[in-house]
Amino acid sequence: MVNRTPLFTAGGTDVDLADPHFFAGDRFLEVAREARRRHPVAWTNPERDGFWSVTAYRPGREVLRRPDVFTSTRGMRLGAGAAAVAAASGRMLVVSDGADHQRLRPAHARWFSSRALADLAPGLRDTVDRRLRELVDRGEPVDVVADLALPVPSWVLFRMMGVPRRDWDELAALTATGFDDADPSPAAAAERAAAHSAVFAYFFELLERRRADPGDDIVSTLATADHGGRPLTDEEIVLNCDGLLNGGLETTPHAISGALLAFARHPEQWRRLRADPGLLDTAIEEILRHTSPPGHAMRTATRDTTLGDATIAGGDRVVVWLPSCNRDEEVFAEPDRFLVDRRPNPHVGFGGGPHYCVGAALARLELRCVLESLLGQVAEIREVGEPARQASNFLNGLRRLDVVLEPARTPATPTGPLR
Ligand code: HEM
Repeated sequence: MVNRTPLFTAGGTDVDLADPHFFAGDRFLEVAREARRRHPVAWTNPERDGFWSVTAYRPGREVLRRPDVFTSTRGMRLGAGAAAVAAASGRMLVVSDGADHQRLRPAHARWFSSRALADLAPGLRDTVDRRLRELVDRGEPVDVVADLALPVPSWVLFRMMGVPRRDWDELAALTATGFDDADPSPAAAAERAAAHSAVFAYFFELLERRRADPGDDIVSTLATADHGGRPLTDEEIVLNCDGLLNGGLETTPHAISGALLAFARHPEQWRRLRADPGLLDTAIEEILRHTSPPGHAMRTATRDTTLGDATIAGGDRVVVWLPSCNRDEEVFAEPDRFLVDRRPNPHVGFGGGPHYCVGAALARLELRCVLESLLGQVAEIREVGEPARQASNFLNGLRRLDVVLEPARTPATPTGPLR
């Protein structure tokens, strides 16, 4: 029998890290701080289908960098259904390792190269500028989750995937429903499953159309190119389209809305960035560290091993809590502060190792466009009421954030917004 102590008891025995509703409150970071200090690798939730919780940066990064010992092929998030994982394992990028992963990764990567993104950037800037102008002109509180943070990533990704404009809203809504794990009831689970099936059905149909009439988009490339010596199967293409929707639409919105909240709560950092837009790059990295949109990345041990002081048995699940790793005081000075000039900033917001986010450059571009546009148009961001957090241990971010965007009389630099 493997000894799995120490137990995760930080925050008291009522803390259930598998319960989405725990994350709708704001206790997680406080609980994680205590866990890092006492048991950075700890056996969690023993009475409820236990798993290892990694809350410290160094063991967390080690897990992400050793796919031979900590595999993604048995799922990368808590609560994913066994059947869904089995269907995607080895065929969808994020739940593949080794040769499968090496075959699938280049099929995605070309769409996120600096050349591909350079073509996309002017249209994206224009879209963000226009949308923000509308919001600023309203002159009243706006929910920046619904009106900015969700539409911007959807605009980019749907264009890249060649999804016709008329289908955007429906597909975005289905993706959100498919991932909304706040309600554990069988009825809600059935609704999630139906939403996933509808997304798959949509992409099977789009794939057929792109095969007949290929365009310059991700679906056409996946459908027509050889990857690792053979074309991808239809199931692989559709699974990876779903993976891109999840990767692109369930993360970047949280970074965008989280950035607005951070600047509303730290107005001196907004003034600092307005005074020196040369800090844009470090500000973007700080937003990624501070917001940490995926709440965790899960792995399964392929064999008995050790991690820090813990002895892990083959088959055990190991959950790396990314927002906690990004607040590790052994790596980040004053980790709870939001500092636009933080340097160095080796955050794990995009993960690490072979599964490092394939869309990282796109996410950074989206954040850059939003910040540039805000610098050009907004002098001050004021929070109105209390923001609502997502009830999810995976989607770490906001469901709603009302703010007033005070218009800027002059843009942040004498020459206008950065370009
Ligand atoms: C702020 C925005 C984003 C954050 C914080 C983020 C974070 C992450 C993290 C932590 C992982 C690693 C998961 C793991 O280790 O299991 C990951 C992987 C991935 N992300 Fe992102 N992501 C973002 C935006 C995007 C975008 C815009 C796309 C695409 C449109 C995308 C697509 C993916 C895909 C396909 C993977 C799997 C990569 C692989 O397994 O090789 N992500 N992302």
